[in-house]
Amino acid sequence: MHITVVGMGYVGLAAAVAFSYIGHHVIGVEKDPQKLKLLQEGESPILEPGIEELLNQCKERLSFTDNTAQAVSDSDIIMIAVGTPPKENGEADLCYVEEAARQAAMGMVSGATYVIVIKSTVPIGTNRRVMHIINKTLAERGVKANVYVASNPEFLRQAMALKDTLYPDRIVVGAETTEAIEALQRLYRPILEQSFIPPLSLPRPEGYSLPPLVTTDPTSAEMIKYAANAFLALKISFINEIAGLCEKVGADVKDVARGIGLDPRIGPRFLQAGLGWGGSCFPKDTAALLAIAAEYGYTMPIIEAARAVNARQRTLVVEKLQSVLKILRGRVIGILGLAFKPGTDDIRESPALDLVRILIERGAHVKVHDPVAMPKVRLTLKELPVDYADDPYTLAEGCDALILATEWETYRNLDLALLARRMNQPVLVDGRNFFDPEQVRRAGFIYMGVGR
Ligand code: UDX
Repeated sequence: MHITVVGMGYVGLAAAVAFSYIGHHVIGVEKDPQKLKLLQEGESPILEPGIEELLNQCKERLSFTDNTAQAVSDSDIIMIAVGTPPKENGEADLCYVEEAARQAAMGMVSGATYVIVIKSTVPIGTNRRVMHIINKTLAERGVKANVYVASNPEFLRQAMALKDTLYPDRIVVGAETTEAIEALQRLYRPILEQSFIPPLSLPRPEGYSLPPLVTTDPTSAEMIKYAANAFLALKISFINEIAGLCEKVGADVKDVARGIGLDPRIGPRFLQAGLGWGGSCFPKDTAALLAIAAEYGYTMPIIEAARAVNARQRTLVVEKLQSVLKILRGRVIGILGLAFKPGTDDIRESPALDLVRILIERGAHVKVHDPVAMPKVRLTLKELPVDYADDPYTLAEGCDALILATEWETYRNLDLALLARRMNQPVLVDGRNFFDPEQVRRAGFIYMGVGR
């Protein structure tokens, strides 16, 4: 099939690369000239395992442009994967989705059939809005094309984008017409049947079984995406709330999580207590869900509580520091890890950055280190007085405490005793329960985890 994917962010680029790898002809649309240039040169503008390798393997079937209208004319499917950033009230801003739809309609030709697939996470009713914009633009241009719309939410995780795209747990399609459903079945057939040869660097996971195709109406598909993200976010907030009580009563939340996670009705994943969730999805999507509910005069106290627990999680860590250091003003605090999770240089809504801001507000002097996210952090925090350390040992120099905020595997092999010796006071707050407390204590530290 011929596919245009509009928006080369994590979702769009992973889709474009994966679809071309499984045999389709794909044009990726990117408006940012710098990103576009990189893509045209076979380089990935985002840090994602496997993307660059497949970009180069799929050259004949994959190209990039900044012109949506030109790209769509020959396409069977136009996939919209642009951003839906939050407005001030939490509502998702649809301006990029609407513009992509308008541009797509500008390139459609009479007599042709197109399926518009909405991959971006969008509020309820966006399908209808997109259809309306396309019909209106086509009418203005006097073009008569057959256009169908489908919602096809994406569940990929950053740092796993390609793996999650090639080996999904399920594929969800929300559409009102058989034309749209059949087009998506064709698009996904190689993935649904796993009939492609797995890329060398991304082998099929052991025990992976064929993903089911969930077909439903567009509104339910849009709800599935929000409900999935909200549930995962509240699962983490739940274990964080339990962690707080574990600390009070003297239990270990890691053992509690294992003990409850072995019940298949609960499951072991997303039960890691820590600083809480960040990133480009959970914060934005839970806010958007509340905004949707508010439009209907409905309240969602569980989602509100999940967000409140998540915000509190950052301050609890700071309070832990206070309990040992007593006074934060004038103290030197080192933060290990700045990305919102390991494996990415993305710092959107990163708990680590919240910590930096809270600590500076309370008068501490903050030093930071991250293996890959430092350039982005420098830009984002340029107004703040932050010291950037080239490595964890330089970071530790003169610190009154260290906080591990992102559990990078490279921190696993740190010489903890050396770190401790370089510090003014060897205090370690393990914001991700990453280290073995005994090992850290043996290295001379005062150790504090979350819920243990
Ligand atoms: C998430 C969803 O997992 C994905 O399905 C959706 O499509 C997009 O949003 P992502 O934002 O890439 O993906 O990251 P994820 O791995 O889910 O982690 C989100 C945040 O939760 C991170 O800050 C992570 O540190 C935190 N987290 C995750 C925990 O604190 N504990 C856990 O047990 C799991």
